[in-house]
Amino acid sequence: MSKHAEIKKITVSTIRNKKSKNEKVTCVTGYDYTAAQILDQAGVDIVLVGDSLGMVMNGYENTIPVTLDEMIYHTKAVKRGLKRAFLVTDLPFGTYNVSTEKAIENCVRVIKESGAEAIKLEGGEEIAPLVEKLVKAGVNVMGHIGLMPQSVHVMGGYKIQGKNGSEQLVKDAVALEKAGAFSIVVEGVVAETAKKITDAVTIPTIGIGASVNCDGQVLVYHDMLGLFNDFTPKFVKRYANLREVAVKAVENYIEEVKSCAFPDEKHSF
Ligand code: KIV
Repeated sequence: MSKHAEIKKITVSTIRNKKSKNEKVTCVTGYDYTAAQILDQAGVDIVLVGDSLGMVMNGYENTIPVTLDEMIYHTKAVKRGLKRAFLVTDLPFGTYNVSTEKAIENCVRVIKESGAEAIKLEGGEEIAPLVEKLVKAGVNVMGHIGLMPQSVHVMGGYKIQGKNGSEQLVKDAVALEKAGAFSIVVEGVVAETAKKITDAVTIPTIGIGASVNCDGQVLVYHDMLGLFNDFTPKFVKRYANLREVAVKAVENYIEEVKSCAFPDEKHSF
């Protein structure tokens, strides 16, 4: 592409229309300016500032401690690195569960301050009335059903969903679509259930650990690039092993500093 070629911005309509065109939606999480530039250059459709940043950026045990201020801070950084991709950010635990008024207030704040083009909320049928209000208030909403990491304590761990039937999950997806959500993340769901959910709605489903039976896929940046080592869920495919590359590079640097091989003349004034 020439340096001056026009960049076609991905919008909420681009994402919605992909399903009818039978085109897969690609989504990767991103939490900083440089990662956003990499994802944009590679041509991903959606960059999601997931609250998984609590774990991979901050080392928390789960996503529950993440605050609205942290989400805004990271989303602003990602925004500065994007030219083309659609930017979605998570509302963290406790910021949309207290009251509808507080949820709308928090959501409006995130959109105004961070530059995100949409927000993502965890929950199904029970949050559909809130989703409807947010959409009416002019906010693009992405749903998130199945395994919901913000409910880790309630679920008793990160458990695969939909093994004993798909009825409730299908109801959740249909309720979210009816409320105006433009897409739904389906996490940790068995393949058969993912298919039923995907077939039941006209908006794209974006799977993570939910088989190929979704309209798109999302992975965590640090997982897919092999940067995060604490644990690797079964559904993660490592497309690179950047942690190994980074450790080797730093070891090399240490060695060269100790042996006075660095800085050499080329890197000195
Ligand atoms: O927080 C996150 O990164 C997410 C994705 C894994 C879907 O919710």
